[in-house]
Amino acid sequence: MREEVLRVDGLKVWYSVGGSYVKAVDGVSFTVYRGEVFGIAGESGCGKSTLVSSLVLLKPPMRHMGGRALFHGKDLFSMSGEELRKIRYKGISIIPQFALDALSPTKRIRDIILDLAAVHEPNLTKREVLERAEERLRLVSLSPKVLDMYPVELSGGMRQRAVLVVSTLFNPELLIADEVTSALDVTTQRVVLELLLEFLKAGIIGSIVAVTHDIASLYQIADRMMIMYAGKVVEIGPAEELVKRPRHPYTQALISSIPSLGVTYKEKRLSGLKGSPPNLRDPPPGCRFAPRCPYAFERCGEEPPAVELGGGHVFYCWLGVR
Ligand SMILES: Nc1ncnc2c1ncn2[C@@H]1O[C@H](COP(=O)(O)OP(=O)(O)OP(=O)(O)O)[C@@H](O)[C@H]1O
Ligand SMILES: [Mg+2]
Repeated sequence: MREEVLRVDGLKVWYSVGGSYVKAVDGVSFTVYRGEVFGIAGESGCGKSTLVSSLVLLKPPMRHMGGRALFHGKDLFSMSGEELRKIRYKGISIIPQFALDALSPTKRIRDIILDLAAVHEPNLTKREVLERAEERLRLVSLSPKVLDMYPVELSGGMRQRAVLVVSTLFNPELLIADEVTSALDVTTQRVVLELLLEFLKAGIIGSIVAVTHDIASLYQIADRMMIMYAGKVVEIGPAEELVKRPRHPYTQALISSIPSLGVTYKEKRLSGLKGSPPNLRDPPPGCRFAPRCPYAFERCGEEPPAVELGGGHVFYCWLGVR
């Protein structure tokens, strides 16, 4: 039996702006198991960052509107600030989107690390912390001299590797990596993805949630994948199964639009997706993809059912029960 690390169940996280709500995450459910790379993909604005960042820090105007996120069986949304602080870095560590700019510019890497250690791993001596940091820097092919540098002195690729070292220094059970490769050139992207896998194999990280709009690079590392559309999940499954045999019309359209995946389907109609995602302040009832879907029929105005295909492959669509 695979061990569950995180179980998200019917989660709703909306933004409260100007008297109305942006329904950015609207009833999302999935599970992450120990030892796996779980990929979350979907086009810009579908709610990926809202979803993962709400798990570690619910900042206004973000609001938790329902559902749960169980980390080892305990709901992150009913934990106190103090309990959450204890979980950060050691339990769940996040590399937020735009993390390259998130490292404090006025502190040397050494001080960033020591300050974090004082809060999250107070039992380690400074010497132990710095030894571990040097060892990890070597693992990502950076010189220990980086410890004496300021973030701005590092190139994009070096900074991303430094961010990886900082965010995994206390061996998190779950690392959430939000678009960690999107600001990098293709070669550096590959290096960073390989490092993530190396850290997982070495047991430095227990499991990974990798978030990106770049399915081709996600496919290189993910064991399972989840596709989001306009704040909802449309499909979840083993990565290969999902890429080679997608069942949701949106997943099919998304995947056939990526030539490097080398996957083509009979349904040519979908290859050029028309229109744009709905406004999340006022999304259509039922399936949010229906207004753009060439197969839509009356039923799609109602909430689509979860259609289980076996082996953990699920898609949310009325076509599956027609
Ligand atoms: N602070 C905010 N206030 C109001 N709406 C917001 C806020 N932040 C994000 N949104 C909206 O929430 C929705 C989801 O945004 P989110 O950043 O989670 O998407 P994403 O999938 O991570 O996109 P990307 O691929 O561009 O990173 C979008 O419609 C966005 O405009
Ligand atoms: Mg994002």
